[in-house]
Amino acid sequence: MADNELQIPTNPSSLIVNNHTKLSTDDDDDDPPTLSSQALAALKEFLAEPSLSASDTAGGGGDSTVALVAEDWRLSQFWYDRDTAETLAREVRALCQLAESESESVRVACIACPTLYAYLKNDDDSNVRLQLLEYDKRFEQYGSDFTFYDYNQPEELPLELKHAFHVVVADPPYLSKECLEKVAQTISFLARSSGSYLLLLTGEVQRERAAELLGLHPCGFRPRHLSKLGNEFRLFTNYDPETRLGGWERKK
Ligand SMILES: C[S@@+](CC[C@H](N)C(=O)[O-])C[C@H]1O[C@@H](n2cnc3c(N)ncnc32)[C@H](O)[C@@H]1O
Repeated sequence: MADNELQIPTNPSSLIVNNHTKLSTDDDDDDPPTLSSQALAALKEFLAEPSLSASDTAGGGGDSTVALVAEDWRLSQFWYDRDTAETLAREVRALCQLAESESESVRVACIACPTLYAYLKNDDDSNVRLQLLEYDKRFEQYGSDFTFYDYNQPEELPLELKHAFHVVVADPPYLSKECLEKVAQTISFLARSSGSYLLLLTGEVQRERAAELLGLHPCGFRPRHLSKLGNEFRLFTNYDPETRLGGWERKK
């Protein structure tokens, strides 16, 4: 990517400037989006400030609330709301049970989705090994479960992780073609050669690419976030969850 190309964060609502100017999320990689000088100044100001308004928990109270660090919008961080985090964690646990019939120990990789990792960890199952691949080093607090990950170096990862995971979940930071292609490379690096359950959380705008790159299709379930999203957000999987997650959405 050229140095001056602006990456579109997963949540383009963060790019709504003065309530009027909004970056296009059109799937047009040849034409970098442009902003007026006024909008660019407002955007720069916005990007300089970490989120202060976001809740520090994905739940808003209750016994099973999982504590999270504050969102840093400069890293395109938008945490799932509690219902979404719990739904995803329930799905991953169901997949682990299916995988357990084949393997003694099941491994789950969470690529750039620390909320899901935290919810799964909260309900620790000794038979399931979790790995969080993240760019934000605040998550080093999770010790050996944390692996530093920059999608720009999609396979610069410990060899021990190669083709080791029964379940791989990814939530890329940007909506660009380049970002999804590189994250797809990482997903293939982590997935087992004999097949793994793959889950991708990203914008509807990535539907065709998700199908081309990884054979993923959208489910009926709609992920939601603590901060309001300006784009349509989807969960794509490489298997039909049927009665769970609203099943694969069939095109009318
Ligand atoms: C859209 S958020 C997904 C978070 C998810 N919704 C959750 O609640 O766990 C994107 C994630 O990508 C991470 N990220 C930012 N820059 C990255 C990079 N260069 N490489 C890999 N991950 C990055 C952020 O820290 C953030 O956790």
